[in-house]
Amino acid sequence: MPLVLVLNGPNLNLLGEREPEIYGRTTWDSIERELQEEARRLGFELECVQSNHEGVLIDALQAARGRAAGVIINPAALSHYSIALRDALAALTVPVIEVHLTNIYAREDFRRGTVTAPVVTGQITGLGAAGYILALKALKLICFAKEEPTRC
Ligand code: DQA
Repeated sequence: MPLVLVLNGPNLNLLGEREPEIYGRTTWDSIERELQEEARRLGFELECVQSNHEGVLIDALQAARGRAAGVIINPAALSHYSIALRDALAALTVPVIEVHLTNIYAREDFRRGTVTAPVVTGQITGLGAAGYILALKALKLICFAKEEPTRC
């Protein structure tokens, strides 16, 4: 089964507790359970990694080269400034979907810029936890499309 890597950046381990009025009360564990079910339905193997450390996420992306068929990443705050993470994403040849739970374009000015979005296949922002499920479905459509986009 093709492997999809799901990466979550800094502070996303606190989902459910962290600023619930912004990020909601759903924990990552329950989102991951739903994602695992959807992955099974779609025929993917799913591996999830969360880290508060930029280098750990970069190592995970490098380890995914030649192993993962697609990547879903919520880089969290790193999206707004990490050129190192951007470069690691740019080095991938598989489709990558960037997910943000909140609509980063409707929040503070410093969240409106993302250095990672220009090097991913597509971005889903503002749809809450459903964004991860939609990203998985998007990967299914992209990876098994007859006319494959450049990053497949
Ligand atoms: C986030 C948005 C980022 O601006 C923020 O730093 C996060 C979460 C989101 O999922 O909405 O940690 O990526």
